[in-house]
Amino acid sequence: MAKLNDNYLKLPGSYLFSTVARKVREYQEAHPDKKVIKLSIGDVTQPLAPAIIESLHAAVDEMGKAETFRGYAPDLGYEFLRDVIAKKDYQERGCNVSADEIFVSDGAKSDAANIQEIFSLDNKIAVGDPVYPVYVDSNVMAGRTGTYDKVKETWSDVIYMPCLAENNFVPEIPKEIPDLIYLCFPNNPTGATIKKAQLQEWVDYANKVGAVIIYDAAYEAYISEEGVPHSIYECEGARTCAIELRSFSKNAGFTGVRLGFTVVPKDLKIDGTPLHGLWARRHGTKYNGAPYIIQRAGEAVYSEAGQAQLKAQVAYYMKNAKYIYNGLKEAGYTVSGGVNAPYVWLRTPGNMTSWEFFDYLLDKANVVGTPGSGFGPSGEHYFRVNAFGSYENTVEAIDRIKAL
Ligand code: MLT
Repeated sequence: MAKLNDNYLKLPGSYLFSTVARKVREYQEAHPDKKVIKLSIGDVTQPLAPAIIESLHAAVDEMGKAETFRGYAPDLGYEFLRDVIAKKDYQERGCNVSADEIFVSDGAKSDAANIQEIFSLDNKIAVGDPVYPVYVDSNVMAGRTGTYDKVKETWSDVIYMPCLAENNFVPEIPKEIPDLIYLCFPNNPTGATIKKAQLQEWVDYANKVGAVIIYDAAYEAYISEEGVPHSIYECEGARTCAIELRSFSKNAGFTGVRLGFTVVPKDLKIDGTPLHGLWARRHGTKYNGAPYIIQRAGEAVYSEAGQAQLKAQVAYYMKNAKYIYNGLKEAGYTVSGGVNAPYVWLRTPGNMTSWEFFDYLLDKANVVGTPGSGFGPSGEHYFRVNAFGSYENTVEAIDRIKAL
């Protein structure tokens, strides 16, 4: 008789953004006359840049001709894309990453969830708290997290590293030694960043204790300040302890297009076995590669025109972030983030829980944000507002909150 993977049954509730979407749907059904503004899930609203559209059209035309038609893509990605990623994202920043260490995928979310598969179930994970829920949830599904404490909202076998105002939302090295360390900077949800010297400490620590860092740099395009690393490979020694996840969703608006990549350096080994080979094996077995036309669109992200257009797009969202940050501050909220990231993080007023504040904003201002507690127990009494809306909607949403 078939048996379930009962790890799935241990998961509390539904995925954070599914719960948010359900609550908004129910509210809209009950109040069809209200204009609800959604600044919750980090989904972009600006259209794809012209250089990307042009490249997509050209690739579609190629697929319509026998001479240029392409079938299965190479498992690990087309060379034209891996080459340009290695050059522009890494080598031009002084990072030693080569094209054959880049694995192209359909996005950072699936890589973030799947990467744990190449590690033993005995590994203990450490996560920043709060953080993108996919890291913990995917380890729960795998059966690596122990038992769930409903009151504390924590897993017994997960090391939570609180990210609070007191530590500028940057985790401290935990007392208990982890095997896998998930770090995300610029951070989702807090919008906080890590300085290069701080990240170097993590790299040194991981090399010392034999841990692997899974570094999610999906928001690196939003870094505006000096001294903030765009990649973990800017740190010395990262090639022997770190995997990096990257996305095209936020820097190029590919949330609906789907493209990302993961870097697994060949020097990263456990007991002498390179992880590169394991991830390549997984990719080869479970994945048929991102579509040709999408990889061509990804290539256009790095063209001169693409770079200029995307810089303008990021600036557009960051203008929203500034409006959100300043507006909420003027309204008396304690806010952070929004300078090197498209997320503004606020403390809920009057000690409201994150979900109470969610309901309050939805009901009184018809604005949707994301409850901080959905990202981890230390996110309780916090709330995330994203900068990915249109400027007009962002202004209207913040002005409504200010008027409460
Ligand atoms: C978020 O809102 O946290 C992200 O958009 C979710 C994602 O990228 O999957």
